[in-house]
Amino acid sequence: MQNQKILILNFGGQYDQLIARRVRECKVYCEVRSYTMTLAEIQEFNPIGIIFTGGPDSVYKEDSYHPAEGIFELGIPILGICYGCQLLAHHLGGVVTTAEDGNAREYGKTLTFYKNSCLLFDGLSEEGISWMSHGDYMKKVPEGFKLVAHSEKCPNVAICDEERKFYGVQFHPEVNHTENGTVMIHNFLYRICGAVGDWTMEDYMHRCIEEIRSKVGSGQVLLALSGGVDSSVCAALFAEAIGSQLTCVFVDHGLLRKDEGDEVEEAFKKWSLNLIRVNAGERFLGKLAGVTEPEQKRKIIGEEFIRVFEEEGKKIGRTDFLAQGTIYPDVIESGKENAETIKSHHNVGGLPDFVDFKEIIEPLRLLFKDEVRELGRQLGLPEYMVMRQPFPGPGLAIRVIGEITEDKLGILREADFIFRDEVAKAKLDIQMNQYFAVLTNMKSVGVMGDGRTYDWAIALRSVTTEDFMTADWSRIPYEVLDKVSSRIVNEVPHVNRVLYDITSKPPSTVEFE
Ligand code: XMP
Repeated sequence: MQNQKILILNFGGQYDQLIARRVRECKVYCEVRSYTMTLAEIQEFNPIGIIFTGGPDSVYKEDSYHPAEGIFELGIPILGICYGCQLLAHHLGGVVTTAEDGNAREYGKTLTFYKNSCLLFDGLSEEGISWMSHGDYMKKVPEGFKLVAHSEKCPNVAICDEERKFYGVQFHPEVNHTENGTVMIHNFLYRICGAVGDWTMEDYMHRCIEEIRSKVGSGQVLLALSGGVDSSVCAALFAEAIGSQLTCVFVDHGLLRKDEGDEVEEAFKKWSLNLIRVNAGERFLGKLAGVTEPEQKRKIIGEEFIRVFEEEGKKIGRTDFLAQGTIYPDVIESGKENAETIKSHHNVGGLPDFVDFKEIIEPLRLLFKDEVRELGRQLGLPEYMVMRQPFPGPGLAIRVIGEITEDKLGILREADFIFRDEVAKAKLDIQMNQYFAVLTNMKSVGVMGDGRTYDWAIALRSVTTEDFMTADWSRIPYEVLDKVSSRIVNEVPHVNRVLYDITSKPPSTVEFE
């Protein structure tokens, strides 16, 4: 079945993916394409509506970006956002100029007044905050268009020609700061483009599977499986699409949580892929012996990973494609410059470039985390896998403070398991974005039974965060902390003290090392 589709033409704006996300949240399939798409390509794409994104340029400049000629004669509804709105004005007989003396130039949250007789604003209150970011404005509204919103500074905030179904807004309905922005997008899709809401993750999954099959043909695909949500969902997708043409290399560096390695293997049993589990625990521990400095630990683990893959890659021989579970937030992150290395992050998502391959395939590139989880569910991955919290590439090595030994890892695994178990029982896992135990390098005096003990202190860490760049410590109820603490000291030998970390990030980081 062919879904209804929305075409998002990207004119270089920073929120193109966010628009896509909003449209898909409204259960309408969409794709982001470059503004250079030709008229024939647009016709072939056959969208029920088109959205022009924002862009950094000015429409009246000589080399600014413009859509294909003839796009306004296709009879397809168009929503222009910011620069996209100015494009409508510019091409359809209006005038766009620089906002003079700062007049009508707006950035940030702006009180805006709407005429809700316009379908785009139907059902909304007459005023609300919108998010603006424009230095140009429409001096003259094009013929046939009505003015349907204004702000205190700018008279021309939104325009529409309901006959031709062209709508333009100077603000960004896709960002959270715009009150009712999603309703406006919903109105555009349902009231104006006639969407029926026929896009679901199940459909998307089938589409991805078809695409993978046609791209890969009879080729061989290699994927580095870490056991995290993204690489697992990616692996499941390829496994479903091409079965035994997929080889997954799963390096168990011996620094995983309790039972994690086995769980990964178990989850993929139902597919006929080639899953190579490399049990390299001893090798990693050997390299890490005596090492206490956090950055050195990270470096050793990162380098050793590459070596293990190199060896496996050589054994596998021919590879045509590399599969990667890159998701949209990774795409945004990689576009940003890192001012200073606080910690050298090590990711197991990719493979080093010595592996000979034709192309990288990243089927999750346009998906947000919650969409990736939903896709995983559709593919039949177990809930504990799709809901798995983030886990750092260097694993427990950066949660055992100081020197790492097999004994210490054993203690940490048990304590961490108890913590996770109690959090799940108390149903707190939804609110806590990441939570784990850490084995400190502190021993202290305790008393058990009638005897003195001199044993390790476990620290518990839990954070609530949206993006992990900043984080607050979770307010776990005392009763839950009490239960966790008493279980850890009773059930895990050589632990006589449990501490709870109550620092936010910054100044702390989420992990201890
Ligand atoms: P920090 O400790 O930097 O952690 O506040 C922020 C988030 O990043 C995760 N983290 C890592 N993830 N490789 C990863 O894939 C790494 O080397 C790494 N170090 C930290 C951490 O678990 C948290 O979610």
